[in-house]
Amino acid sequence: MGEFSGKVVIVTGGALGMGKDTAIEFGRSGASVAVADVNKPAGQAVAREIDKAGGKGLFVQADVARAADCKRAVDETVAAFGGVDILFSNVGIQPLESYRNVEQTTEEQWDRIIGVNLKSRFLMAKYAIPEMRKRGGGVIVNNASVQGIQSMRRVPAYAASKGGDLSLTRQMALDYAHENIRVIAICPGTIDTEMVRTAARAEGGDVEATVKRYGKSHPIGRIGTGKDIANMVLFLASDRASFITGSYFLVDGGYLAMGAWAGGAGADK
Ligand SMILES: NC(=O)c1ccc[n+]([C@@H]2O[C@H](COP(=O)([O-])OP(=O)(O)OC[C@H]3O[C@@H](n4cnc5c(N)ncnc54)[C@H](O)[C@@H]3O)[C@@H](O)[C@H]2O)c1
Repeated sequence: MGEFSGKVVIVTGGALGMGKDTAIEFGRSGASVAVADVNKPAGQAVAREIDKAGGKGLFVQADVARAADCKRAVDETVAAFGGVDILFSNVGIQPLESYRNVEQTTEEQWDRIIGVNLKSRFLMAKYAIPEMRKRGGGVIVNNASVQGIQSMRRVPAYAASKGGDLSLTRQMALDYAHENIRVIAICPGTIDTEMVRTAARAEGGDVEATVKRYGKSHPIGRIGTGKDIANMVLFLASDRASFITGSYFLVDGGYLAMGAWAGGAGADK
């Protein structure tokens, strides 16, 4: 019996990256896991990996910026597994062409990033919470970012979406704490996923060297892995975290502990 045997989990954006690693880890711990993603081949492969790991996998093709797709993702999960206990609202996009200031950002870019990174949190919660209530409680973990707390140049929509993820997390936690539904956010630093590899490739030059350079900007000396994120999400979703709601947790190798004036951790080495 795994720690999550009998539990039903939905992971948005679970076909790749942190979502994939977390979905498989839930499977390894005995959960039934629905992967909601736009990427069908990759999502179906993750569902098979969940089965192999000892859980039960389901792929639901869904664009979670759309209400109808979110409702269907929840409905298909309930039809397959009987309910919903845990939602990892993980999906997120940061397209390279969106690295622009406010004046250069198009309305379409703004709407798409806010739609995927923030509106999906609202929509998935809206449809999953009634199912959690039927089971006497549940846990929602929203994937924000260190960019929800501090910022950088030329990312207006992404910054707003991640700040919104944190604010929505606090707000929903208050509305549902009395129903034993906990709502928590995580703020990853740089994590080795397709999103980061795409950014590294766009710099030109040697991708591995670029990823290593990203790692050096984190005091711990490396960027994070999907497993680092999965470990935190599984803890927050477990009963061991039963007194935790409405807060956020940095999983960032010390990134935000460092002030800009520090000149980089290990600058003296
Ligand atoms: N990678 C990082 O360094 C980093 C750092 C901080 C926060 N984050 C956040 O972590 C989360 C996961 O990021 P990642 O790096 O694993 O991303 P990723 O690009 O590696 O994977 C994202 C997944 O989301 C899916 N997806 C995209 N749009 C979708 C949509 N509309 N509907 C359903 N699925 C969709 C993709 O198909 C893919 O499977 C995101 O919210 C991201 O903003 C990432």
